[in-house]
Amino acid sequence: MDPRPGTAFAELDVKKATDAFMEIVDLRRSVRHYTDAPVSEEDLRMILESARWAPSGENAQPWKFIVVRDKKNKEFLSMISKRGSGRRFTGEYLSKQMQKRFETLEDEEKRRSAFTKLTSGEVSAFVSQPDVVVIITGRKEVWDLPFDTSAAIEHILLAVTAAGLGACWLVAPCIDIRDELKLNEYFGIPEDYKTISIISIGESSGRYPNARPRNDIADIVYSEKYGEAYYQKEEKK
Ligand SMILES: Cc1cc2nc3c(=O)[nH]c(=O)nc-3n(C[C@H](O)[C@H](O)[C@H](O)COP(=O)(O)O)c2cc1C
Repeated sequence: MDPRPGTAFAELDVKKATDAFMEIVDLRRSVRHYTDAPVSEEDLRMILESARWAPSGENAQPWKFIVVRDKKNKEFLSMISKRGSGRRFTGEYLSKQMQKRFETLEDEEKRRSAFTKLTSGEVSAFVSQPDVVVIITGRKEVWDLPFDTSAAIEHILLAVTAAGLGACWLVAPCIDIRDELKLNEYFGIPEDYKTISIISIGESSGRYPNARPRNDIADIVYSEKYGEAYYQKEEKK
């Protein structure tokens, strides 16, 4: 127990809270394979409460969250996400960015299959699988809208993980304004709202994803000035 006397944290078991928090951060993955098991109302409420308590510029709280559970509506989101991802990755392929991203993958067959999966948009088509998809939309007039909604989304991702469920943040259906407008029309979202992303939420089907690589902390944290490493690079074990 390491209470911070005289503060709101006086009752907090700091060690336990820190360990639990880092465990959740560590466990979070973008989950793209789901069972159709229902997300309980209790879990869903906790997840959405976490979003409600996210910070926002000037406390504007510009967000609205649409809970989508109807199969037909989820299939619409899957179709539009697939189309959005397909467009984006085709753009990356044509501009040769994709080839650069995969240049270390030497197996020609594997490269080709990765390109096909990405450019087809199939990578984002899974959103019809989970029990819940949440649409995150917000008032266009609010300056910090993308930051505010991103804070809420990250709260949701961590809360989902804490509940032992899986989630994935998808910008796919909102990358292209044509898709976003279709989505807004379908779900009756008013014209003064911008849809930022959707999040799939459900029980992971067991194919728990490996952690994607992250840059070394010594390469991303600087001291006082850009480029001056704050941490020493650790020897790779
Ligand atoms: C802003 C943002 C947009 C994303 N959009 C998509 C998406 O459209 N489709 C998808 O399958 N994953 C999407 N992702 C998930 C990323 O691919 C994933 O976070 C990244 O590869 C790291 O993997 P991890 O989340 O498992 O650590 C998105 C993530 C973020 C933060």
